[in-house]
Amino acid sequence: MSKKTIRDIDVRGKKVIVRCDFNVPLDDKGHITDDIRITAALPTIQYLIENKAKVILMSHMGRPDGEANMKYTLKPVAERLVKLLGQPVAFVSSPAVVDEHVKAAADRLGEGHVLILENLRFRKEETKNGEEFSKELASLAEIFVNDAFGTAHRAHASTAGIAAFLPAVSGFLIEKEVRFLGGAVENPERPFVAIMGGSKVGDKILVIENLLKKVDTLIIGGGMMFTFFKAQGLEIGKSILDADNVQLAADLMKKAEEAGVKLLLPVDTVAATEFSNEAEADVYSKDAIPADRMGMDIGPESIKLFEEEIAKAKTIIWNGPVGVFEMPSFAEGTRSIAEALADSDAVTIIGGGDSAAAAELFGVADEMTHISTGGGASLEFLEGKELPGIAVLEDK
Ligand code: 3PG
Repeated sequence: MSKKTIRDIDVRGKKVIVRCDFNVPLDDKGHITDDIRITAALPTIQYLIENKAKVILMSHMGRPDGEANMKYTLKPVAERLVKLLGQPVAFVSSPAVVDEHVKAAADRLGEGHVLILENLRFRKEETKNGEEFSKELASLAEIFVNDAFGTAHRAHASTAGIAAFLPAVSGFLIEKEVRFLGGAVENPERPFVAIMGGSKVGDKILVIENLLKKVDTLIIGGGMMFTFFKAQGLEIGKSILDADNVQLAADLMKKAEEAGVKLLLPVDTVAATEFSNEAEADVYSKDAIPADRMGMDIGPESIKLFEEEIAKAKTIIWNGPVGVFEMPSFAEGTRSIAEALADSDAVTIIGGGDSAAAAELFGVADEMTHISTGGGASLEFLEGKELPGIAVLEDK
């Protein structure tokens, strides 16, 4: 069922409180190193400004555990918003997040003006979905907009609780994420190929199980390939093993077969003497990994195999790097996947986190149809779960 958005309500002259996910990475000096989560929220904020709403923005940053720890202040976000919006943004750095000063600032807002609150997680009630805090936040405004896709898997005071006290609709970012991620999974143009990477099968099990019901081909890469190799009875040397989940990997291969899904595992690996960019490394067939080597990347034959499959696809979802791409010596597999997606005419969707970082690093992010701003949220979405921050919004 689709949710009402800000297009479906009248925001003119109203105080609108918008939950964003401004949980952006900072360097040691507190400078923002990647503002994609801020720029992704701009369409909603700009629409509200243009339509003469009085805009109150709120977000968490990091995990300050209910303490007003200024290391996690939203000040850098407020400053970046001033630059991106090209207009003043009021910021009241209150340790209580909502207090008399904040209320006064909200009351002073003119049409098209913007205020941003301090880090919601300075209050311990936020992550506990405390009703009192939800009410305090709601008391600042007349409409609640959730646009924090990256935090939509959390049932917190500002993402879920607040919706009990105000009309609640979605912003454009949540609408877009649901359109792309949901559209790909529910109504894909075929062939539909999913590429799953990362080191632990256990972390991806629910996503893989859900996708096995939807995809034509499932490609497995990354550290978890060795758990699958083990399940096939192969020796994996010193490669990473998710020992508790070998049986699970075997079950998944069986499920894929029963579902008629082509499950593609790498056929070779670049294996090194130790976990280091400088380590001696060579390509080995998957059934010939030496006892003293650890697999760090997929090998050239696997790259070729996966590229062929990607070239045939009409819809592709990619979640998780296929090798240790942070080390240049072992980045080739992940780079090739990113470039193959960029060259493809298919709908290409990247499910946040490390694969989004990889697409950025290899300069192909702009070539993708959609890169999710959610890490945990996009995984839970792809698992087929209903996200609490979306569930609470009004149906159309
Ligand atoms: C994220 O970065 O995935 C979101 O901002 C949620 O953060 P959290 O995992 O601390 O709830």
